[in-house]
Amino acid sequence: MITSVKEILTKARAGGYAVGAFNTVNLEITQAIISAAAEMRSPVIVQLTEKTMDYAGGRNIFNIIKNTAEFYYPEVPVGIHLDHGKNFEVIQRAVEIGFNSVMYDGSRNNYSDNLSVTKKVVEFCKEKGVAVQGELGNVPYLGEMEMLDIDWNKYMTDPGQAEEFVRETGIDALAVAIGNAHGFAKERSEPDYARLEMISKSVDAPLILHGASDWENGRVREVIKRGISCFNVDTSLRLAFVNNLISRIKNKEDVSFDIRKLLNGAREAVKEQVKNKIKIFGSDGKI
Ligand code: G3H
Ligand code: 13P
Ligand code: ZN
Repeated sequence: MITSVKEILTKARAGGYAVGAFNTVNLEITQAIISAAAEMRSPVIVQLTEKTMDYAGGRNIFNIIKNTAEFYYPEVPVGIHLDHGKNFEVIQRAVEIGFNSVMYDGSRNNYSDNLSVTKKVVEFCKEKGVAVQGELGNVPYLGEMEMLDIDWNKYMTDPGQAEEFVRETGIDALAVAIGNAHGFAKERSEPDYARLEMISKSVDAPLILHGASDWENGRVREVIKRGISCFNVDTSLRLAFVNNLISRIKNKEDVSFDIRKLLNGAREAVKEQVKNKIKIFGSDGKI
């Protein structure tokens, strides 16, 4: 059942657990995510980026998610979210298609530009009932910069600024930077737990952690305790999908020209990965 992302996040925050926001690019990954959530009896967020809208067609991929949720797994609360919307146009495109939640990512802009565009996005989305996630601080990507000897202080969310940012913009969720990085990149030796605690105390909105694919149980538990309500997961699903295909092709397992057999194995590998994440995040059994 399509459910508002805001409701999914609010329940997670109140219940002291986190949900996964998993990136999809196609039919198989979408099915893997939602069927894993069904088996685990967990709410779930399925999200995609502008690149995926361009690749698959925004309406195509949106309707694959919607049909899978409504027709095949009506018992699972599924939120559909635009991940990393980088400009106003892509937000408008997603809202027009029917996304119930969007991220405006102004984290590469200076603070006042990030604040003013995020505010405009919220004004546009609020009247349409669409939730908005903003980002403050900067969660780097592998390849975007030199990841060795990185000065993490330059990337961190400032707790005082976070309070002002959430209050001034009216966003529904905030993505934070506490030493996390996208991809399987070298991250800060330990997340800045004290900073996260300060942000949680000063911000009255669910907090989102990007770049969480490679986080082990211990770290995940520590940040949930300190207020993280949602983890974004993309890289580990991509790896599960591609590695499954590569190894089966290499070992000549199930290799035929029946594309369905090939993709089914990859879909199962992604499903296992999603189930593991749901277990670690603690959203299993929360339907
Ligand atoms: O942070 C989000 C994604 O991992 C980036 O994915 O290649 O679809 O833009 P993308
Ligand atoms: P990973 O690269 O760790 O999967 O992070 C994904 C993400 O943050 C998507 O927004
Ligand atoms: Zn991200």
